[in-house]
Amino acid sequence: MKNTLDRSRLESLLTREEQVFHKGHPKSYELYQRARKSLHGGVPMLWMIRWAGSFPVFVKEARGAHFTDVDGNHYIDLCLGDTGAMTGHSPNATVKAIQEQSQKGITLMLPYEDVIWVGEELQRRFKLPYWQFALTATDANRFVLRMARMLTNRPKILVFNYCYHGSVDEALIVLDEEGTLMSRPNNMGPQIDPLLTTKVIEFNDIAALETALSARDVAAVLAEPVMTNIGIIHPEPGYHDALRELTRKYGTYLIIDETHTICSGPGGYSASFGLQPDFFTIGKPLAGGVPAAVYGFTEEVSQQFAARLNVDDADVGGIGGTLAGNALSIAAMKATLQHVLTDEFYSKAIQLQEKFTEGVETVIKEFELRWIVKRLGNRSEYWFRPSPPRNGGEAYAAIDHELDRYMHLFMLNRGILMTPFHNMALISPDISEADVDYHTKVFREAVSSLFG
Ligand SMILES: Cc1ncc(COP(=O)(O)O)c(C=O)c1O
Repeated sequence: MKNTLDRSRLESLLTREEQVFHKGHPKSYELYQRARKSLHGGVPMLWMIRWAGSFPVFVKEARGAHFTDVDGNHYIDLCLGDTGAMTGHSPNATVKAIQEQSQKGITLMLPYEDVIWVGEELQRRFKLPYWQFALTATDANRFVLRMARMLTNRPKILVFNYCYHGSVDEALIVLDEEGTLMSRPNNMGPQIDPLLTTKVIEFNDIAALETALSARDVAAVLAEPVMTNIGIIHPEPGYHDALRELTRKYGTYLIIDETHTICSGPGGYSASFGLQPDFFTIGKPLAGGVPAAVYGFTEEVSQQFAARLNVDDADVGGIGGTLAGNALSIAAMKATLQHVLTDEFYSKAIQLQEKFTEGVETVIKEFELRWIVKRLGNRSEYWFRPSPPRNGGEAYAAIDHELDRYMHLFMLNRGILMTPFHNMALISPDISEADVDYHTKVFREAVSSLFG
């Protein structure tokens, strides 16, 4: 059959791509060997070893949507730091603001006037009245979970199967094939067993949501408005209304994490679709790649929190971060929000992403593949199953690690960096139409090598 994957063919193609990768990256290999002597695993952060090649590519320089490695290879970057550089690398306005601010103080533990502009802009974009700052989206999520527990006096939180919200302890939990909760495989030394802290249900299952909330022991639902970390999974019509209605009915706070779904538009998915969360969290691209994150909340939350907060002990209460709200992050955030993540940014990037998705769809049709491509704003992802998954469990069941790896490596060897762990492509406006056409061509070649 034309569209049936031949596993032995895939295996030999993968071996060939690994050889091509080694041959094309001698300097990266040399640096990797040196790095292994001082860095655990040869990388500064564990995940950097999980790329498709057998060692990581060392970057020489990046600008816009492109970068060059130490071997002189040029790449179109469709990973963009897994959203951390969704703005494109080193956007001019952000770089200028960083240069200027770095001459005037980097961190003080005191506010600068600019932070008010940022607070007002966050209000305007994300429609919540009060904001606080953190350095990572993980921290923003951790902090709002604490606030939700403190305000409700409830022990549990609820997340969706195969969600990801950073290294938040409570969210490192999934359902096994029988639907039983289990700590996520490889959850490293959990501080507390997530089975004690968390309820997990499938996305898009309203009945399960009501059952989970009706015990009135859930402080907050922590949700991406569209799941993005196990492929793109859209909410079914009416799901968000039900989520909001049921969380209100059972006195549970709703936290919407827009760290990835900020790809939907300038106010994230919430602004585009009129969601009304109690808490809103976001990090990654807010400051053009400089560490910065924020969390916002309602007037009601603000009042309740103020009523319970003992300011004398606020520094040791579990919500903090000495460098949070530092002047450099604030300057970068202000410039990025004002000049980079603009309406024009989104209209250009989304238009390019539509072209990208059309290209992938054309090839899928031509080869009669049982694959799909899904899009959310300027993000898209191809998936090796014939219909969109409804939830994390369905999406997880369709993962094909070998095929993923092959597609990644094939692209990488031809100068295209996809986002690792899944076949995600994020488009910044610095990508050209010719870059998109080039991806379609290489994608076609990859498919043809497997099914032609
Ligand atoms: C939805 C979501 N929230 C939070 C995070 C955590 O971001 P960070 O690793 O920058 O803390 C991630 C990371 O991928 C994410 O996808």
